[in-house]
Amino acid sequence: MPSVLLETNKLSFAYPGQPENAPPALAEIDLRVDAGEYIALMGASGSGKTTLLKQFNALLRPTSGEVHIGGASTAEEGSLARIRSLCGMIFQNPDNQIVGATVEEDVAFALENRAVPPAEIRRRVAAALALLGITHLAGFPPHLLSGGEKQKVALAGLIAAEPRCLLLDEPTAMLDPAGQAVFVETVRRLNREQGITVIHITHFPEEAVLAGRVLVLDKGRLLKEGPPSEILTDLALLRTLGLRTTAAGELAALLREDGFPLPGGILHDQELAEQLCSYVQKI
Ligand SMILES: Nc1ncnc2c1ncn2[C@@H]1O[C@H](COP(=O)(O)OP(=O)(O)OP(=O)(O)O)[C@@H](O)[C@H]1O
Ligand SMILES: [Mg+2]
Repeated sequence: MPSVLLETNKLSFAYPGQPENAPPALAEIDLRVDAGEYIALMGASGSGKTTLLKQFNALLRPTSGEVHIGGASTAEEGSLARIRSLCGMIFQNPDNQIVGATVEEDVAFALENRAVPPAEIRRRVAAALALLGITHLAGFPPHLLSGGEKQKVALAGLIAAEPRCLLLDEPTAMLDPAGQAVFVETVRRLNREQGITVIHITHFPEEAVLAGRVLVLDKGRLLKEGPPSEILTDLALLRTLGLRTTAAGELAALLREDGFPLPGGILHDQELAEQLCSYVQKI
């Protein structure tokens, strides 16, 4: 029986100062996330993804309803430190989380705040920098780094803090394709090998397809959830929301419309290539 890491109960949230007639940023969200899950969070701009993620480390707290992390409500002041050490977040704009004068100090920040012994801090920081391939940046001022380098520094800081859940807000938006692949593979390895839960906001269907479950937000509501094979093949749903599926899924749909006898449910390049090869061999 999997253990529950995070649970929301009729979670609603309105930003202070929002006009009374404006819809709330989050409306009546009921969600349960088990320890070890890999979740992709999708939705149009403004649908509430960042607002929801911030509820999961108590940066924001419900206007009504509840959020429980590791069994504790985010409404309990006394649980905030534990909740924040369980669930660490990477922000959408990496400039918002630079705190150290050097990359090394920046990655060590959360550990120093928690009074981890210096030798242990040095070990964890060196390991996190090596994992992300940015050891050479250790002494560099982080504010001078490129956007993609800052995203890697942010992930290194998160990994060094050893949370049980990674909250990632469009973490690869500024990375080149090779950097994106390294980043995603690093996170997937942490999920697979250490059972670390991942909640990953992404506009990239190629990232969402790797998750165990995809959540779709629309105007602050949890519109749909399910495995990628169900959500990313629902082209009507995705189009209504202004989203798309993987490149292979989009191309397969176009080919089917043009009369190619391709089966439904194709999402990966390799699957599409195999189907097309077997079709060509038959004619
Ligand atoms: N600090 C704030 N004060 C008032 N309203 C806000 C604030 N931050 C966000 N909002 C509003 O809440 C809604 C949800 O915003 P949110 O940032 O969660 O969207 P998102 O799904 O993360 O979008 P994106 O894909 O563009 O990052 C939007 O309508 C936004 O204008
Ligand atoms: Mg956002």
